[in-house]
Amino acid sequence: MRISKEQAINRLCQGQVVAIPTETVYGLAASIKHEAAIEAIFALKGRPQNNPLIVHVAGPDHVHPMDALVPYIKGRIDGLEKLVEAFWPGALTLVLPVRQEAISSIARAGLTTAAFRMPLHPVAQAILAQTGPLVAPSANRSGSPSSTCVEHVETDFGEAFPVVDGGMCESGVESTILIVDEGRWRVGRLGAIAPETLALCLGYLPEWNALEKSSMQQKICCPGQLYRHYAPLAKLTLGEREYLGDEGVVVGFSDREYREASVFCLGASNDPVSCLNRLYFVLRALDQEKVARAWVDLRIPEAGLWRTLRERLIRAAGR
Ligand code: TXA
Ligand code: MG
Repeated sequence: MRISKEQAINRLCQGQVVAIPTETVYGLAASIKHEAAIEAIFALKGRPQNNPLIVHVAGPDHVHPMDALVPYIKGRIDGLEKLVEAFWPGALTLVLPVRQEAISSIARAGLTTAAFRMPLHPVAQAILAQTGPLVAPSANRSGSPSSTCVEHVETDFGEAFPVVDGGMCESGVESTILIVDEGRWRVGRLGAIAPETLALCLGYLPEWNALEKSSMQQKICCPGQLYRHYAPLAKLTLGEREYLGDEGVVVGFSDREYREASVFCLGASNDPVSCLNRLYFVLRALDQEKVARAWVDLRIPEAGLWRTLRERLIRAAGR
């Protein structure tokens, strides 16, 4: 059910869950003041309880009055103010130590930290300004591709589910997550902002550890990264060029030639921003077309935003 911003604000203040647009992907929002609504989000998504949620704020000042942060946000963590100044509002999520009582343990999944983001989307900003901080995971069933338009939300949660239509998401891929660990920022999840861009602000390249390594690395990664993710029902194969015959399906690029009749195009092979923007459309389209198996053309660079696309495709293939 498509609802207005005002209806969303009312529902959120009454402790209900609604889907809202952000510039990255749509989110399933609940007020941080309503624990039952936060619990309902986990149930709706089928999300494991140990996977914490991002707290969305209207601005850095939204974090201060909650007195949530330990140490207090200003001047205590190297690079924090510079990152906030340069990338908020926007697709950067910051994981910070918090005062435990300030944010429900269910939202934090019992961790001593919480993730914060200030979205850029005007609808999200207008809602947050009235409701106060909102937790909002991506509006998709746990493990499936995220939602980048209102129709995706309706596919996953049904037409009766309340959603504010904010158009197509501008970036179409989730925020980049930075986690501070012993004074140094590391990438917990690759996303819409490349680590190379963050390096211009930080003065060093924040490291990203491909997953499931030592427990030390797990400590500084996002719990959500430990699960199968972004996956369509179709089985995706990666690696060596695999010609599956005329009936074969390819996920590839508009400026490359493939012999297969059916090619699902991400975009041009020199334009990672557009390819990321179409990624979830393409993964969802495979399922709409009832594709059972597709070969993914992963002949893309391992730097900048290509690394985000590469990581999402590898995870969508269930590796
Ligand atoms: O762009 C986005 O970030 C979107 C929009 C809606 O804002 N949200 C989103 O939320 O992608 P979700 O729940 O799908 O992903 C949140 C990620 C998960 O991988 C989770 O493990 C991680 O953030 N996370 C949340 N709190 C954390 C914490 N305290 N420490 C480490 N990772 C955390
Ligand atoms: Mg998600």
